[in-house]
Amino acid sequence: AACTSRNASPPAPTRIGPKAPSIAAAERNRRATSRRSTSVSLEAGVTDIDLGGIQVKTWTYGGELPGKEIRVRRGDVLNAQLSNKLPQPTTIHWHGLALRNDMDGVPVLTQSEIKPGTSFTYDFAVPDAGTYWFHPHVGTQLDRGLYAPLIVEDPADGADYDTELVIVLDDWLDGIDGRDPDTVLAELKKNGMVMGEPGDSSMPGMDHGDMPGMGGMPQSKLLGGDAGDVTYQYVLANGRISTAPRVFRARPGQRIRLRLINAAADTAFRVGVPGVPMTVTHTDGFPVVSQQADVALLGMGERLDAIITVPNSTVPVLALAEGRDLYAQVLIQSGRPGDPAAGDAAASQLSTLPVLTVNDLKATDQVTLRDNAPDVTHTLVLEGPGAKYDWTINGNAYDPADGLPIQSGQRVRLRFENKSEMFHPMHLHGHTFQVLGKDGRGARKDTAIVMPGTALDVDFNADNPGQWLTHCHNIYHGEAGMMTVVSYV
Ligand code: C2O
Ligand code: CU
Repeated sequence: AACTSRNASPPAPTRIGPKAPSIAAAERNRRATSRRSTSVSLEAGVTDIDLGGIQVKTWTYGGELPGKEIRVRRGDVLNAQLSNKLPQPTTIHWHGLALRNDMDGVPVLTQSEIKPGTSFTYDFAVPDAGTYWFHPHVGTQLDRGLYAPLIVEDPADGADYDTELVIVLDDWLDGIDGRDPDTVLAELKKNGMVMGEPGDSSMPGMDHGDMPGMGGMPQSKLLGGDAGDVTYQYVLANGRISTAPRVFRARPGQRIRLRLINAAADTAFRVGVPGVPMTVTHTDGFPVVSQQADVALLGMGERLDAIITVPNSTVPVLALAEGRDLYAQVLIQSGRPGDPAAGDAAASQLSTLPVLTVNDLKATDQVTLRDNAPDVTHTLVLEGPGAKYDWTINGNAYDPADGLPIQSGQRVRLRFENKSEMFHPMHLHGHTFQVLGKDGRGARKDTAIVMPGTALDVDFNADNPGQWLTHCHNIYHGEAGMMTVVSYV
């Protein structure tokens, strides 16, 4: 497919550029607080994958979807060697981590692309505990299936649960109707945003009538109008469609920490467990004042940790695709096996319940940024799509040589003003910001949905020098221009 990526061949930077590739041990260990180091080998390659009765050829880490989880402890050094067996250059971005800038995986800004047939070793200290993930930062490669969880434990956090279940959500396009994400983006740019309606029979592989779990759910208006640009055929939980879900065995009464990760390129999800309240404890890795919810909204790139108590019967963890008649599920089996088809009724039930959103979350005292008024405020106006499917920040498409100037040590406020009719999950690399919220202390996050026609203020401390992207985590919006650089030395 034609490569339409802005990242793949950006204009030569004028003011900024990649740092020297050498890794000084002292710098590497700047934030290491333990003596442990974990080494992993990753291979990005072309793989045949079974989505649950549907075979696809796609791109993955290590031949698995999702890629195998990496698990380390806070303060450890992670040493990850990536070998690129893809037909395109790639990188890895460690989403959400406040790591050293030259390990952030952004072509041109922080490193050169890793060419096919070569490898690159990422080597950095992991500063904070929590639920993270990783993916390429080249074009729309993420949307082919290149993603995996990165779990950072903190043995001292005293969290109270018996077992963990990591669930990675995705929307699925590649390999089903023969198109790949880059082609889709090219079409979007050529034709504007309308790709065809759900159920469009011109799209091979679409046969809603035969697929249990594909009908009946009311379309949600939570995010304003149509939530997505691209028509996906399936959504996945841990690599499976809803009719062939993964099964997690547990005992009644056990407390499970759910670690939910939205790796989808273009789809937000409502997550919940019918009849079982979730106690939400973390968002984007950072603790929140815990609260109960039946359903929570999870934008692209966001994570949510919640604890549930296993009931006496088998229940699904459901993920309802926002604005689409699709859901994915993982069955928590306690007692007799559950029926995947029961998800249909459960999904429509869940879709009527009130939803926990970013505005409902508050950081715990421990991670709340203190007092300071911002030293500098940058307003980022989010607009699009134009006739050419361009998504812009302050009227401009991404230019790696052009960034928002700030200075080290400043308290920085970013005001995201969404002047479009779609929502944008805005992500900041290398930092965890504080959403201002009603009383100035919302959640600490690295990705937050900005609803249509609204503004969202977030504050962060400029305490990790480098060139950091801030962009929409709708991969198509980001690649179509909604991306800029926050830069300081
Ligand atoms: Cu997970 Cu720049 O992204
Ligand atoms: Cu967007």
